[in-house]
Amino acid sequence: MSMRVIALMNEKGGSGKSTLAINIATALHRRGDQRVVLVDADPQGTARDWRAASPEGKELPPVVALDRPQMLASLPTLAADIAVIDTPAKAEAMAAAVVRIANVALVVIQPSGADVWASAATVKLIKSKLDVGGHIDAAFLVNRASSSTRLSKLIQGGEWNEYGFDQLDTMVGNRTAFAQALTDGVSVYDLADGQAKAEIDFVIQELEGAGWL
Ligand SMILES: Nc1ncnc2c1ncn2[C@@H]1O[C@H](COP(=O)(O)OP(=O)(O)OP(=O)(O)O)[C@@H](O)[C@H]1O
Ligand SMILES: [Mg+2]
Repeated sequence: MSMRVIALMNEKGGSGKSTLAINIATALHRRGDQRVVLVDADPQGTARDWRAASPEGKELPPVVALDRPQMLASLPTLAADIAVIDTPAKAEAMAAAVVRIANVALVVIQPSGADVWASAATVKLIKSKLDVGGHIDAAFLVNRASSSTRLSKLIQGGEWNEYGFDQLDTMVGNRTAFAQALTDGVSVYDLADGQAKAEIDFVIQELEGAGWL
């Protein structure tokens, strides 16, 4: 079986790539039927730091650092069925390398104009892979969604989306559990917020429903 490669992307810093990579990788790992690796492609090392902070005995996926574009060549040699890649912000060469090898790209955006505009570089990379006949399934994933502003409603509703690729129906809310999980080296499955867990479950169900997993 070949490896499925799912990348959390956006050259905008702080959109929630690491947070979602960690929780999606943990959810897949805990299903237990496939070997999951969380690839830390960010020299900043957020995923590594997260794993280093983990308490003993938690069911968490292994984290492997491949944080230079050339290092991604060794991805297929990892003993895993699914690789979830946490990508860095402002790193065009790495983003291009990740898009080349990924089966699925989830472009993480917060519901603000700034995040949407800043995703243009990532979207362009994905489109250029498609333009040369490459295959990649791509969707926006809205993180830290709230119902409070008109702008966020517009973005969450997808009406702004002129890029021509989908937005997942599932949106991830702005929840303390996500920040706490990152800090404590655990996942939202180790914390009490049932809605946070349900949101990650829904993301995975949606990817499965689309045949992307
Ligand atoms: N859904 C959420 N609810 C609450 N806090 C969140 C959520 N998603 C992310 N955060 C917080 O926002 C901050 C940035 O998140 P994160 O590090 O995952 O972003 P990133 O895109 O990986 O950033 P970078 O571009 O620097 O790698 C962190 O403090 C994190 O805890
Ligand atoms: Mg990060």
